[in-house]
Amino acid sequence: MKRIGIITSGGDAPGMNAAIRSVTRSAVVEGIEVYGFLRGFAGILDKEYKKLSYSDVGGIMERGGTILRTSRVPEFKVPEVRKKAADILKELGVDALVIIGGEGSLTGGKLLVEEQGIPVVGIPGSIDNDIAYTDMCIGVDTCLNTVIDAMQKLKDTASSHERAFIVEVMGRTSGYIALMAGLAVGAEAIIIPEVPIDYDSLAEKMWDERKRGKINSIVVVAEGSASAYTVARHLENKIGFETRITILGHVQRGGSPSAFDRILASRIGHEAVRTLLDGDYNVMIGLSRNDMARVSLEKVLSEKKSIDMNIVKLANVLS
Ligand code: F6P
Repeated sequence: MKRIGIITSGGDAPGMNAAIRSVTRSAVVEGIEVYGFLRGFAGILDKEYKKLSYSDVGGIMERGGTILRTSRVPEFKVPEVRKKAADILKELGVDALVIIGGEGSLTGGKLLVEEQGIPVVGIPGSIDNDIAYTDMCIGVDTCLNTVIDAMQKLKDTASSHERAFIVEVMGRTSGYIALMAGLAVGAEAIIIPEVPIDYDSLAEKMWDERKRGKINSIVVVAEGSASAYTVARHLENKIGFETRITILGHVQRGGSPSAFDRILASRIGHEAVRTLLDGDYNVMIGLSRNDMARVSLEKVLSEKKSIDMNIVKLANVLS
């Protein structure tokens, strides 16, 4: 293996730079050249790349976002476009591609291997934590810290004004961010797509708490479940609290990565290169029982990651 390509693709996630650094340095010390393509699959199609040296990736671990930039490329669903990308990689002498991204990006990678024979290793990077066969994706921990920091601040003002805050968080179709952040701040209610919403019993519970003297209330809602506006409409006038809405939005994707994300990205990036050196590809590197796991992209993408219902129960007991 002489030269590998690396892309960050789809929604960015804190820790992607740490993964780029790890892949680059792990490859370079093995005598492998690294081409960093810009803006994900778009950079391959536009032949926009830069050769990354050991020192080029110095000082990037602590930076949020991705130095390679990223994009969503819907055209990659078209087989001819994937063929064009594969032809360009071959023309540039790129022997394998490391893809850091979420489900859509890994799907693009799987098709590049299956149809075009390009060796691909995937690195799960997404704040949503919705990828099967990895306990955590890169970026999730930092995102959760950002969310709980914001919610803690909302709790302060909620208490001062004796209000309820309906806080909408990201996660696409997954309730992971809402559930874990809600557990971590002791939210009164957590609304997630995996569990049907019962507005009446939720309103009743909040009303009871208000009567018992509670002076604030935080309801976390996952974007894949309902909008914060819909939840507020259902609860208004029934809970005894004046309500306010906060949609956290893209702030959840930014910021310097946490220690956990830096370490995870460094470990997975290194394992991705080791995997290629072993001649193993068409796999994603996941975290399983605190160890690195190589799982076929086929297996990863054929399963939907579910959330742990014991955590849902726990959050209910503790709230
Ligand atoms: O997949 C990451 C994510 O932040 C989701 O939680 C969210 O639904 C989506 O990306 C937002 O995408 P965009 O940045 O394209 O608006």
